[in-house]
Amino acid sequence: MCGIVGYTGKNQALPFLLNGLATLEYRGYDSAGVALVSGAGSIEQIKCLGRVAALKKLCEEITVDATCGIAHTRWATHGEPSNFNAHPHSDCSGQLSVVHNGIIENYQELKQELEKAGHSFKSSTDTEVIAHLLEENLQHEAHGDMLVALQLAISRLTGSWALGVVEAREPHTLYVARSGSPLVLATTEDGAYAASDITAFAGITNHVVNMEDGQIARLSYSKDSGATCKIFESDGTSVSNPDTFDIDWDASAATMGGYPDFMAKEIAEQPEAVRRLLKNRLTPDGIRLDELDISTDEIAAIDRIYIVACGTSYHVGLYARTIIESWARIPVIVAQASEFNYEEVLVTQHTLCIIITQSGETADTLASARKMHAAGAKVLAITNVVGSSAAREADAVVYVQAGPEVSVASTKAYTAQMVAAVLLALFLAEKTGNMRLKEVCTKFQELERVPQLIEEVLTRGWQDEAATPAFIEANSSLFLGRGFGATTAAEGALKLKEISYLHAESYPAGEMKHGPIALIDQGFPVVVVCPDDHVRYKTISNIEEVKARGAVVIALATDGDQKVAQISDYLLLVPAAPEYFSPIVGVVHLQMLARFVALARGCDIDKPRNLAKSVTVE
Ligand code: AGP
Ligand code: GLU
Repeated sequence: MCGIVGYTGKNQALPFLLNGLATLEYRGYDSAGVALVSGAGSIEQIKCLGRVAALKKLCEEITVDATCGIAHTRWATHGEPSNFNAHPHSDCSGQLSVVHNGIIENYQELKQELEKAGHSFKSSTDTEVIAHLLEENLQHEAHGDMLVALQLAISRLTGSWALGVVEAREPHTLYVARSGSPLVLATTEDGAYAASDITAFAGITNHVVNMEDGQIARLSYSKDSGATCKIFESDGTSVSNPDTFDIDWDASAATMGGYPDFMAKEIAEQPEAVRRLLKNRLTPDGIRLDELDISTDEIAAIDRIYIVACGTSYHVGLYARTIIESWARIPVIVAQASEFNYEEVLVTQHTLCIIITQSGETADTLASARKMHAAGAKVLAITNVVGSSAAREADAVVYVQAGPEVSVASTKAYTAQMVAAVLLALFLAEKTGNMRLKEVCTKFQELERVPQLIEEVLTRGWQDEAATPAFIEANSSLFLGRGFGATTAAEGALKLKEISYLHAESYPAGEMKHGPIALIDQGFPVVVVCPDDHVRYKTISNIEEVKARGAVVIALATDGDQKVAQISDYLLLVPAAPEYFSPIVGVVHLQMLARFVALARGCDIDKPRNLAKSVTVE
């Protein structure tokens, strides 16, 4: 994970580096650091344990005149979060600095080899080997040429990396390289920029160069030539036509806009996100999903669908499976990418493969896409981030257009991804002849009511706040549901544990009696998703079962449900909705519940401990 940024240009480097890091902080925030190359030919490193704000404070105490530098916000993979392990890392001489996003899998072998050659290490990270390898190469085979030193170093690495390197001898140049971790570049008349993610360029430029795996770039600035950015393949050949794209910025979208935290803002943005996605999707011929670029014959030949994703996006996959199977009658397998990648899977050229990923950068999910491609399948990506690795690597992309999602806990991307799944299911149902156009239209019209229903739920946040006492003293909690409710329960439990650090386990309500019911004793909080659906009666019995054993029941139920109201301790009420759309509406309560519990427990809402928004390491 980690966020890296780099700059060389006519301005002081520090302001961009610190602002850029702040926008990338969702990628990791256990420590942060910056390396500035001063015109006097030395490198100043400032780093600390903790957030970018702490680094900013430290930087206020020093003055360095530097127009070139690199910076990093870390999510530790190797070596505990500490001042020593914070990036940048340097070689023995202190003449070069390196920031890295990724994992060097063979770092132990390299470290041993370098130690034998006389290098001494200061950190316990995998990253530091890169700095010493560069030093070694510069002194020997590369004869002082950093580009060659980098090529040689990279040829020794296994794993994944986005790298930024500066050297004291070159106060106006920075080098970057990419393999398996994202990296984008930009040049303006003010300078040349590098970052893990386009958000660091907001307000600077909308024209972005995307680096491809294996490439190295040299970014320089001089008064005469301005900013230049030269990209090379791993063998040193120059890339003449780099991959570029433009971003349609809405700078305000990535600010809190008066909300207390990004999660609150993003929860509130859900009705708008859904409306945006639904705009112009229904035509007289059915659902418009031109992005799919798939013929009726190809659809007819689909033998099965694989949906692969992680975390919250995986829960979207569970929802998608139910509606695709029931409407389009195509068998669907849903897999967690980290498991899928190491299993034998039944993917053929007739399998439609779908990856769902908000960020489009989740390493496990991207690896799954590659595995599915290798099996000859067509891969569709459902993602939120334009120009992300998933979008570029897939054969077709459906953008969910939820706008930047900053909070680590995914909310609006979840509901938007579910809506994209509905569009896909309706499209396939109609094209396979399993649903008449008339029914497609009816369902679409019902779907168009979803934003309004979400708006109604948003006015009921007080019900979630009122339920928080049930969790305050608890050490654990259970989320139960049946059918669609089981998926909502899974997502609710993930949200709660993610941001409130309270253990939350989700279980299909009917399965609970085969084990988890043993957990329940007096005061144990159990959230039961029990809307007015075809399994409501069965779920009510499960409420009775846990109540009989002393549980405190927080029930997600439909307006007017007297029965559930009588047997529950707290009610989270949703307006009536068609069964297949109720998970899109109901989950909003569980998002708000998680947030209120986290607030009551004094947790950081947007940046929960140990997590990062984009999980770019396997
Ligand atoms: C969601 O709240 C989590 N932060 C996490 O589970 C996330 O959904 C997962 O890491 C997948 O991310 P992606 O959708 O960007 O691939
Ligand atoms: N492996 C490096 C470290 O632990 C970088 C981590 C990352 O990219 O998340 O410092």
